[in-house]
Amino acid sequence: MDTYVLERDGQLDFYKVFLPRVNPSLDIDEILADNNDGVINGNLLEFKLHITDLNVVLFQCIKYLSALRVKGKPVPANILIIDLNADTVWLYRSAPYLNYIERLYSGGASKDNSGFIGGDAEKVLHYDKPLDVESIVALLKENSFTKIHIDENCIVGWATSFYKAVPTARKEDFLGDDTGKHKTIGEIRKPVHFAQYIYPYTGQTNVKFNYLMDKLNDTLQKKNLGAFYTHRLYAEKSLELVRAAIARVPAGNDYIILDRCAGTGNLEAGLTDDELSHCIVSTVEYYEYKVLQELLGAKVRHIIPPIETAETFNAGLVTGADALSKEYIDNPVIKQYIDNAKCTVILFENPPYAETTSAEHQRQGQSKASSTWKQSYVVAEMKKEVKGTASNDLGNAFVWSGFKYYLRQPTDSYIVYSPVKYWKAQHLIEKNFVSGFAYNRRHFHTNIDACIMCAYWSN
Ligand SMILES: C[S@@+](CC[C@H](N)C(=O)[O-])C[C@H]1O[C@@H](n2cnc3c(N)ncnc32)[C@H](O)[C@@H]1O
Repeated sequence: MDTYVLERDGQLDFYKVFLPRVNPSLDIDEILADNNDGVINGNLLEFKLHITDLNVVLFQCIKYLSALRVKGKPVPANILIIDLNADTVWLYRSAPYLNYIERLYSGGASKDNSGFIGGDAEKVLHYDKPLDVESIVALLKENSFTKIHIDENCIVGWATSFYKAVPTARKEDFLGDDTGKHKTIGEIRKPVHFAQYIYPYTGQTNVKFNYLMDKLNDTLQKKNLGAFYTHRLYAEKSLELVRAAIARVPAGNDYIILDRCAGTGNLEAGLTDDELSHCIVSTVEYYEYKVLQELLGAKVRHIIPPIETAETFNAGLVTGADALSKEYIDNPVIKQYIDNAKCTVILFENPPYAETTSAEHQRQGQSKASSTWKQSYVVAEMKKEVKGTASNDLGNAFVWSGFKYYLRQPTDSYIVYSPVKYWKAQHLIEKNFVSGFAYNRRHFHTNIDACIMCAYWSN
C-alpha cells in the first residue's frame, strides 16, 4: 500500500528527515522559493508519488532550471528525482541538458512533457538502505552549478541579482565592455561574483540588449533616469504622427527631428534612411549612448555628443547630453537649426517619467533629494513660469522645455509620449492638439495599466 497519498506530505517528510543531516539552518521557505519542489545547495529536487516515465519528470525539471536562469538564479548541477512511494532517488546532472535549459518555455512546467528523451540517470539510490541514504546526504551537500550563457532572455534577471548582491555597483560594473573610451569590464564579461554561475559574455558591445538597457540600469540610475522603453509596435504607430508633421514642412524648408531622450533609439528604429538623415538624437546614459552610436550614429544627421572623447563618460552619464542643462540648450549643433528660419523643427520624444510625489515613488523610499534632475537648469526656469505640482515631474520638464526652447514656428511640431493625467489635470501647455494615440503603460516595461498618450501638438 502507498505510504503517501499527497505529494506534499511526502515532500515535507523528506525534508524533515534529510535537512538535519544536510544543514539544519536551511529554511524551508527559501528551499521552495521558486515554484518548484525545492532547491538545496546545488540540487533541484522533484517529488512524485509514483514515477512511470522518468523522461517526463526530467523534462519538467529542465523547465524549472530554465526558469531559474531567466530569473538570474544559479542553475544547480544536480537534478534529484524522487519517487516517494518507492523510496527511490534518481540523480541526473544538468550540464548535458544545457541546450534545453537555455530555451524558453511557456505554460505550466508539468504540462506537455511527453516525448522528451534524455539519457540514463547517473545513479539510482534507495533510501531504505543506509549506504544510499548517506549518498543522498552527500549529494544534497554538493554545491556545484551548471554555468549558463547570458542572453537577452536572462540578462535582466542576472542584473537584478547582481545589484542585489552588490548594492553599490553601477551599470558599468555589470555591463562594461572593452570598446569606447571608458573601459570598465563588467561582470557579464569577466564574472567575479557569478564566476561559478555564468560563462563570460563574448558579445563585444551591448547592442544585443538595446531594447533592455532601461531594465539594466542600477538602482540609482533607475531613480534618476525614469527610463521606460517603447514597444516596437507603439514606436511604429507613432511614426504616422511624425510623418504628418513632416507633411506640414513648408516647401523649401529643411527640417530636423529632435529626440533629446532617445535611449537606444527605439522610436527612430522604423524611420527611413531619408527621415533619419534629418534626425538629431541624444541620451544621457553612457551605455545607451554607445548603443545609440552603434545603431544610428552613421545614419542620423547628428548625435550629441558627436563622438566619444576622454571626457564623455562621467559617473555613468554622458557629458553634454543632459537635456535639462543649460549647456544642452545652448548646444551649437542644435542651435544652428533653431536659429534658422528656413528650418522646421519636429520634436519626437518619449521623455523619462519620475514623479517624486507619487505613492509608488514614496514607497520605494526614494527621497526628493535623490532626484538630481530637480536641481537642473530647466526645472529652475520652469518654476519661474509654472506654478503648482507640474514641476514635480521629470517628464513635464521635458515637455515644457520642448515648447519653450525648440518650437518657434506655426509649422513646428511636438510628438510626445506622456501619462494622460498631466494634460488633463495640470494644463501644462495650451497648444493645438492635431492628433494622437492612447497606449497602455504596461507595454513600456512596467506592470502598471495606465494611459500613455502619444500626442501630436502643433506649435
Ligand atoms: C522613457 S525613456 C525613452 C527611451 C526611448 N526613446 C524609447 O522610447 O524607448 C527616456 C530616456 O531618457 C533618458 N534620459 C533621462 N534623463 C535624461 C536627461 N536629463 N537628458 C537626456 N536623456 C535623459 C533615459 O536614459 C531614457 O533613455
